[in-house]
Amino acid sequence: MPPMATLRLFPSSSSAAALKPTASRKRGLFCCSCSDESLTVAITGATGFVGRRLVQKLLSDDHKVCVLTRSATKAASVFPATTYPGVTIAEQGDWERCITGSSAVVNLAGMPISTRWSPEVKREILESRVNVTSKVVDHINSASADARPSVFVSATAVGYYGTSETDSFDESSPSGNDYLSHVCREWEGRARQVNEDDVRLVLIWIGVVLGKDGGALAKMIPLFMMFAGGPLGSGRQWFSWIHLDDLVELIYESIKNPEYKGVINGTAPNPVRLAEMCDRLGQVVGRPSWLPVPELALKAVLGEGATVVLDGQKVLPVRANQLGFSYQYPYVRDALKAIAKEL
Ligand SMILES: NC(=O)c1ccc[n+]([C@@H]2O[C@H](COP(=O)([O-])OP(=O)(O)OC[C@H]3O[C@@H](n4cnc5c(N)ncnc54)[C@H](OP(=O)(O)O)[C@@H]3O)[C@@H](O)[C@H]2O)c1
Repeated sequence: MPPMATLRLFPSSSSAAALKPTASRKRGLFCCSCSDESLTVAITGATGFVGRRLVQKLLSDDHKVCVLTRSATKAASVFPATTYPGVTIAEQGDWERCITGSSAVVNLAGMPISTRWSPEVKREILESRVNVTSKVVDHINSASADARPSVFVSATAVGYYGTSETDSFDESSPSGNDYLSHVCREWEGRARQVNEDDVRLVLIWIGVVLGKDGGALAKMIPLFMMFAGGPLGSGRQWFSWIHLDDLVELIYESIKNPEYKGVINGTAPNPVRLAEMCDRLGQVVGRPSWLPVPELALKAVLGEGATVVLDGQKVLPVRANQLGFSYQYPYVRDALKAIAKEL
């Protein structure tokens, strides 16, 4: 008996019909917000924290998803066929066939960065992003014109800007000069090699994603509980965050809306200092916020990766505001309250 994943590696004949590009897609005018057309979206990193919620969102709106993964077995355990009939799963050798004929591709893959950064880990953090992005871009560019996805949404991170306690950054700001900004530039550089004459490129520079099942909160909450709650490090660092549901909506809108193009900061409109974030977190998890979590404790858990939480940047989503994107959670207090209800 083959594993479940191999049974649904490629679209059925009915979903193959949905993959057929329409004339409007070929002209690059495709806009599903003004039509009921079902999309097929190929996603790298679909099995991760953000990807899982994006898949659920797409399926709930009757679209189809092709999960581009390193392991069909792992993906099949995340998306069992019984509960996710709209999902097909492809390991790397089959990515090309999945990408060819999809309406859109979303690129979220990358090794987690909140870890100890040995030289090998640092290389893997970079290579995992650059290699997957290059592969996906090659497949998009080599697809025949009538089967090419019309939009490519690729993640990077606000780490692009470097860190600062005083400056604020928007999509026109220059890149920083630390390790993470280097990773973001390389990652994005590969995404920019997509043929933009035929494919709309959206680059989402993502802030710290808040949700109950992963990301920074999953690491912060236990630490916070141990130390009774309180600022991490000095607390003066900026914390540019976004609620998971808003990020997924932003990605979804980027797929559907032809006006979404180029770099868009994936952050909420009201970044906070880390002390305020911790204060709010203390309130929602019922911990007094008076004893600071020492930098040393954070570094013991996260190694150099603690920089993601300890050295922040104030990032403003100027482009999303211009586009009229509507945030469900513009304030961290409401975002954390909503997450705490799910705990
Ligand atoms: N979460 C945040 O706060 C945040 C903030 C800024 C930017 N981002 C970026 O947004 C993207 C999605 O974030 P996330 O939190 O959903 O990530 P995640 O939960 O860590 O999942 C990322 C996915 O990438 C794939 N992956 C992991 N290690 C890999 C490796 N060594 N080589 C190739 N692929 C690998 C895995 O998919 P398979 O096992 O199925 O291949 C995994 O499910 C990531 O690129 C992340 O850097 C996230």
